[in-house]
Amino acid sequence: MDKVSSGILEMLRSGTGYISGQQISTEFGLTRAAIWKHIKDLRKTGYIIDAVPNKGYHLASSPDMLSEEEIHCFLSTRTIGETVIFHREIDSTNSVAMLLASDGAPHGTVVTSDSQTGGRGRRGRDWFSPPGCNLYMSVILRPSVSPAEASQIPVISVISVVRVLEKLHTGLPFQIKWPNDILCQGKKVCGILCEMKSDTDQINHVVVGIGINVNVTSMDSCISDIATSLKLETGQEYSRTKLSASLLEELEGIYLEWLQDRNLKRYVEEWERYSLLIGRNVKIETPSEIIAGVATGLSDNGSLMVKLSTGTIRKVYAGDAHIANHNS
Ligand code: BTN
Repeated sequence: MDKVSSGILEMLRSGTGYISGQQISTEFGLTRAAIWKHIKDLRKTGYIIDAVPNKGYHLASSPDMLSEEEIHCFLSTRTIGETVIFHREIDSTNSVAMLLASDGAPHGTVVTSDSQTGGRGRRGRDWFSPPGCNLYMSVILRPSVSPAEASQIPVISVISVVRVLEKLHTGLPFQIKWPNDILCQGKKVCGILCEMKSDTDQINHVVVGIGINVNVTSMDSCISDIATSLKLETGQEYSRTKLSASLLEELEGIYLEWLQDRNLKRYVEEWERYSLLIGRNVKIETPSEIIAGVATGLSDNGSLMVKLSTGTIRKVYAGDAHIANHNS
């Protein structure tokens, strides 16, 4: 959004009643006709602005959009989300964020989109990303940590999303399916894709890509059995803007706390409480093998501990988890 339009929005938001066209023209040193053009542009992007002769303009409502202007209305983080780069449509917010990060975008830069044409999931899967209903966001982090330590970031990310979902007070039972899916009533409601670029002993950047099925009601037929949305489960709509702001706040809080000692110990109990797999017979599909056993817990570095039939505890760092004799 251009500077004048965003300035007009700020003026309209700060006033309680109508703000005259003259007042706005004076503020920006533009003609009233030019201001009217900006108002029309804002209306096109979804803002409902009343225009009444001799009274002026009044902001009646704002769109539920993942733009910087909207997210900033609800955000009070220190660095995460200071810059939000919003697209109406993009191939993948993660791909864009990875490119921006390689070009030097600062820590905390966030890329959002209303829809994705090439939304990506783990292991090369697609992420269903229709417009106007869900949350697609990627956050650039630049911790000064080793690649091994950075591999704990998916754990803190998934915990931050669960905390935010709990704050909605939906009464829904959310469960974490290792490594970083969130399920509700056995169906996936959120997926997280963390990607990183590193040298041998130091991280360059990590991108945390979060997709939440918020208000979508018609799922792609091939995933309707395994995916759901907050609206499908509760019948209610949720503000994507507020959810994004809340997520960035939670993520910043947990990230700064984790950064102090890069140890997951303080989150293990919370993670295990939400875990779908703990105590169950699981099969973990890795690129090279299938590991079968009972999931016993999360280790301090984020790997899943699986007790094999021999009694040995195996730490699994990556893979697709299935509950044995179950299709989930
Ligand atoms: C998974 O479940 O395998 C992870 C899904 C991650 C989807 C999000 S949507 C925002 C960001 N951009 C992407 O292309 N992917 C992530």
